[in-house]
Amino acid sequence: MAAIEVLVREGRTFPPSDDFVAQALIKDASVYEDAERDYEGFWLERAKEFVEWFTEPTESLEWDPPHCTWFADGELNVSYNCLDKQVNAGRGDKVAYHYVPEPPDEEHRSITFAELRDEVSRFANALRGLGVKKGDRVGIYMGMVPELPIAMLACARIGAPHVVVFGGFSADSLGERMESTGASVLITQDEGWRKGKKIALKAIADEAVKLAPTVERVIVLRRTGDQVPFAEGRDLWWHELVEGESTECEPERCNAEDVLYLLHTSGTTAKPKAAQHTTGGYLTYVSCTHKWIFDVHDEDVWWCAADVGWVTGHSYIVYGPLNNGTTGVLYEGDPAYPAVDRHWEIVERYRVNQYYTAPTLIRAFIKAGPEHPQKHDLSSLKLLGTVGEPINPEAWVWYWKYIGGERCPVVDTWWQTENGGILISALPGLTTLKPGSATVPFPGNQPAILDEQGNPVPQGQGGYIVMTKPWPGMFRTLWEDDERFVSNYFSKYGPSVYFAGDGAKQDDDGYYWLLGRIDDVMNVSGHRLSTIEIESALVAHEAVAEAAAAAAPDELTGQTPLCFVVLRSGYEPSDELAAELREWVGTQIGKIARPKAVLFGADLPKTRSGKIMRRLLKDIAEGAELGDTTTLRDPEIVEALKREADESLGRQAAAS
Ligand code: PRX
Repeated sequence: MAAIEVLVREGRTFPPSDDFVAQALIKDASVYEDAERDYEGFWLERAKEFVEWFTEPTESLEWDPPHCTWFADGELNVSYNCLDKQVNAGRGDKVAYHYVPEPPDEEHRSITFAELRDEVSRFANALRGLGVKKGDRVGIYMGMVPELPIAMLACARIGAPHVVVFGGFSADSLGERMESTGASVLITQDEGWRKGKKIALKAIADEAVKLAPTVERVIVLRRTGDQVPFAEGRDLWWHELVEGESTECEPERCNAEDVLYLLHTSGTTAKPKAAQHTTGGYLTYVSCTHKWIFDVHDEDVWWCAADVGWVTGHSYIVYGPLNNGTTGVLYEGDPAYPAVDRHWEIVERYRVNQYYTAPTLIRAFIKAGPEHPQKHDLSSLKLLGTVGEPINPEAWVWYWKYIGGERCPVVDTWWQTENGGILISALPGLTTLKPGSATVPFPGNQPAILDEQGNPVPQGQGGYIVMTKPWPGMFRTLWEDDERFVSNYFSKYGPSVYFAGDGAKQDDDGYYWLLGRIDDVMNVSGHRLSTIEIESALVAHEAVAEAAAAAAPDELTGQTPLCFVVLRSGYEPSDELAAELREWVGTQIGKIARPKAVLFGADLPKTRSGKIMRRLLKDIAEGAELGDTTTLRDPEIVEALKREADESLGRQAAAS
């Protein structure tokens, strides 16, 4: 029996257009054959192509499952590659970042590669002056300001692994992450901007430091200029610290396997895990995937609209693009501030060519309606990307139509914090796209889909996705917890098989369809259904902007889907619409998936990175006490949904 049943068959296909192919960087399918024929040779060649080494590696992969090394006799510096290499190649005056502050009346800043190199060097010298040396961990807790990548690159320059914590996390989360990684310095700012409000980053950092006695110094960037608490002797102003520092800073010679950074995975339940990423393999992998998947040409303007605090920002705002000498956009604030067309205004102003975001934002755009992007000239766009969750086919098509003008390929990229870079995605000049599918493995990668026992599931059926070979960008272990590295990722199917924790199916063409986390699978009358297919059916209805399904207990069937729906603007909740949507799912994918009830909400509960928090929806569906809600972006939403669910299912509120 299939590990997960497959209900939906999406039939639409989008081959690359002749115009796109004509200009594509990768249009020869031999890259796949090359990588397959000589995997190690392929990557060693990429390492030489994408990285300028102090000592060129002769070794490629060393694999002692589950551990691996890549290019282990090579020496490099990541900041040198991202900055000095560009300046030396004549790109000094090229813009590295167009920085857009959130307050609409504040001046933008365009920072060149030469300026960035100088700023990074000054700050790196200052860190060295404080005694930070190779191997020391440095915490970073900032908003999306240019000094965030500057701080990261300064750490990379002196070989000190950075530990960036997303600026929306609480003092407890920050403190725990600083303490467990033993950070000695924490870099923050007075305040950040979010939705027109000031976020008290320094005050939160102060609370966090109380939990992290290892932190000896706090460096504070002046952003808003407001008065903030300041501990004499411990705290230092960024601008005072770099005063008089030289713009020359000798980059540390790092081994390819030295740690570039630690980054905590997005899991919210157990103790956070810090994935440990390297310099040589990581830089090679993120640069190659960035250039090939997004088809980024030298003259292009690239915008990854994620937050630098997540892995997407590390890999595709900072390291991949800078190492490729790419001009990028860095936007400080909220996508809907001061209005929902802020992103389109920025795309128009900077003539952005590639735009990469998450399904959660695309769903917000759908909810608001196509008239907002239609106010702007988006003709500069050549390609769109998505990451973070499965994308409903209808949302994919909306994105393609209203943002991409029916002209831009949409690459759906599947990967995880642990992976460092994209594992499954189209190469847009070669791959025929299918909405809702991440399509095919990046050249050389070898995923498989297995059942509980480790047998490959037949094509067309759902199972657990694994990676059967290491790739250069993968994490090497969890910080100071190799045991957990092994037990979490390399024990279910043995030490040579990376267990990702996601469900997936392969269709008849060998395309991969990601089905979400395996914990979210529900069991209806013995059928194991993934939530994404029910959700995609709902989103295909004209009234629905986004949807989430969770398993409610049912006497007859064991479990039954309970669906939460956010309507597009112009539609109102009603009993009739709820009934219509239930029937709609029944006819779209079969009676078995017909929801027990459809509930309407103004939004869905989401984590701070924008993923739907299914654990809480499950609690609601089961009528259980709500679990931990501290990692939610807006806890009020889940309370409202719970009240509605209890009412609709005739349950007394668990709290009463
Ligand atoms: O469930 C998958 C989902 O996001 C998880 C990884 O989350 P995180 O470590 O926060 O990294 C997100 C950015 C790389 C995966 O296990 N996910 C990510 N991308 C996709 C996806 N699910 C389906 N399709 C995707 N393209």
